Amino acid sequence: MGTLHFLAALALLLVWSAISALASPADACTLNATGGDDAPNFVQAYFACDTVIIPESTVLNIGTRMNMTGGVNKHIDLQGTIKFTSDINYWSGNGYYFAFQDQITFWKLGGENIRLDGGGVLDGTGQPWYDAFASNSSLLRPILLTISQGRNVVVKDITMLNGPEWINFVTDSSNVTYDNIHINASSTSSHLAKNTDGWDIYRSDGVVIQNSVINNGDDCVSFKPNSTNILVSNLNCNGSHGISVGSLGQYAGEYDIVENVTSINIRMANAENGARIKAFAGPNVGSGIVKNITFQNFSEMNVDYPVVIDQCYMTAADVCAAYPSNTYIQDVWFTNISGTSSGNEKSLVASLDCSPDNRCSNINVNDLNLSAPAKYQPATYGCQNVNLTGNAASLFGTCATT
Ligand SMILES: *[C@@H]1O[C@H](CO)[C@@H](O)[C@H](O)[C@H]1NC(C)=O
Ligand SMILES: *[C@@H]1O[C@H](CO)[C@@H](O)[C@H](O)[C@H]1NC(C)=O
Ligand SMILES: *[C@@H]1O[C@H](CO)[C@@H](O)[C@H](O)[C@H]1NC(C)=O
Ligand SMILES: *[C@@H]1O[C@H](CO)[C@@H](O)[C@H](O)[C@H]1NC(C)=O
Ligand SMILES: *[C@@H]1O[C@H](CO)[C@@H](O)[C@H](O)[C@H]1NC(C)=O
Ligand SMILES: *[C@@H]1O[C@H](CO)[C@@H](O)[C@H](O)[C@H]1NC(C)=O
Ligand SMILES: *[C@@H]1O[C@H](CO)[C@@H](O)[C@H](O)[C@H]1NC(C)=O
Ligand SMILES: *[C@@H]1O[C@H](CO)[C@@H](O)[C@H](O)[C@H]1NC(C)=O
Ligand SMILES: *[C@@H]1O[C@H](CO)[C@@H](O)[C@H](O)[C@H]1NC(C)=O
Ligand SMILES: *[C@@H]1O[C@H](CO)[C@@H](O)[C@H](O)[C@H]1NC(C)=O
Ligand SMILES: *[C@@H]1O[C@H](CO)[C@@H](O)[C@H](O)[C@H]1NC(C)=O
Ligand SMILES: *[C@@H]1O[C@H](CO)[C@@H](O)[C@H](O)[C@H]1NC(C)=O
Repeated sequence: MGTLHFLAALALLLVWSAISALASPADACTLNATGGDDAPNFVQAYFACDTVIIPESTVLNIGTRMNMTGGVNKHIDLQGTIKFTSDINYWSGNGYYFAFQDQITFWKLGGENIRLDGGGVLDGTGQPWYDAFASNSSLLRPILLTISQGRNVVVKDITMLNGPEWINFVTDSSNVTYDNIHINASSTSSHLAKNTDGWDIYRSDGVVIQNSVINNGDDCVSFKPNSTNILVSNLNCNGSHGISVGSLGQYAGEYDIVENVTSINIRMANAENGARIKAFAGPNVGSGIVKNITFQNFSEMNVDYPVVIDQCYMTAADVCAAYPSNTYIQDVWFTNISGTSSGNEKSLVASLDCSPDNRCSNINVNDLNLSAPAKYQPATYGCQNVNLTGNAASLFGTCATT
């Protein structure tokens, strides 16, 4: 190598190390609280840095909405707390809006290869919302965390407290995993923590929710329209409305798909439902298909309806007979479901009610071992307009045809 070449190479090396020295602080940024609204700093750091670290002792105070969609290879290392203000006037008018079920959110997170972890806390400061909703049932309340237009997203080791409404919404996303999430939405006043669904999945494919503990006041997990290839595994749900497919077929002109969904190894306590599928019937509703759904290894305690199909959801029997559901249900497995009901429905522990006209097909029931509280024994199993298959079919006897 000639001297000139050597000098050129040296210069290049020096320039390169200067750039990387400049670049390295941007790789990981530590974010501290400012004492004011930390949202602008947080959003700016998110886009400027590969990793944003929120230290254990830090409480970020978030008073304005956050749009973190469109980033690539981002890591939020949340060791501390992200706490949303309870400025009800601001949030109900300014949360990011979703037309689906008239929802708003504090925070939209999306993009590609996104990771949120670190053992920290998202705190929705829900109590003032639970109280305000009690006197204004049309109040728009923000979702705590929304994954929107995300691809390859992991949310892991996070505690989610007291969201004003749904805790997690996954929309227009694919390959999203939640692991080791602790949810607790719980009111300390007489006004319940209403509509605090653990997860709602919508227009998304490839979602995994696993190894998590949930205490809330609505669905533990809900598969809304166009949820495909979903695994829900090893959850401990308390106080919820259960794990629900739907409700589907609600909106005229829309076609809803829920396909390839497995929910397995679930403990469900003090809940309205255990494993449920619900679809609208009646005039002026939508249509769709629910296909290849498995509920397996459920252990239930004090649940009103441990096993449910309701294909006449919110529809009177005579209306359902005249206008059966256009959301067809096929290839469903309820396998190895045990435990006790609450007795709220007296002896009834399972209710598989389909619309007339063979709208349910290949519905399998195996190893159901459910009991009613002592005063309502023996447990009874109900069904209509469906032919059941499997070793528990005989428990249901002959289903009524309407
Ligand atoms: C945040 O605080 C840590 C230590 O408390 C400090 O090292 C860091 O430089 C601070 N970051 C900012 C952006 O002020
Ligand atoms: C959020 O950010 C993305 C990416 O920068 C942008 O395309 C989108 O318009 C923003 N959305 C809103 C509602 O501000
Ligand atoms: C109830 O909430 C809605 C929607 O957030 C809002 O427009 C309305 O003003 C609120 N009503 C009252 C009485 O505060
Ligand atoms: C799904 O996302 C995870 C985490 O980002 C990634 O490791 C994995 O490769 C992705 N899978 C596919 C099929 O893209
Ligand atoms: C949820 O919070 C309430 C009130 O703070 C508490 O009593 C309850 O034990 C908590 N539940 C879980 C599962 O953490
Ligand atoms: C479980 O849910 C019941 C009913 O909502 C509630 O009373 C109880 O405190 C919850 N347990 C925990 C540990 O949160
Ligand atoms: C669901 O997907 C189907 C097929 O792509 C589409 O026709 C339908 O409009 C989607 N429905 C919703 C609610 O997004
Ligand atoms: C049914 O869904 C599961 C995932 O829940 C998937 O592994 C399986 O391949 C699907 N079966 C069929 C026949 O589509
Ligand atoms: C359901 O799984 C089967 C088998 O893996 C696959 O062929 C089918 O495309 C999946 N359905 C959807 C809607 O992704
Ligand atoms: C069902 O639960 C049992 C006991 O927890 C476990 O050994 C088994 O692997 C589970 N089955 C599946 C298919 O995960
Ligand atoms: C059925 O599920 C229970 C948990 O609810 C589990 O302990 C048991 O091992 C499962 N049985 C089989 C055969 O998988
Ligand atoms: C049940 O099976 C019988 C005999 O194959 C058939 O006539 C009937 O239509 C089926 N009913 C339903 C609800 O699928």
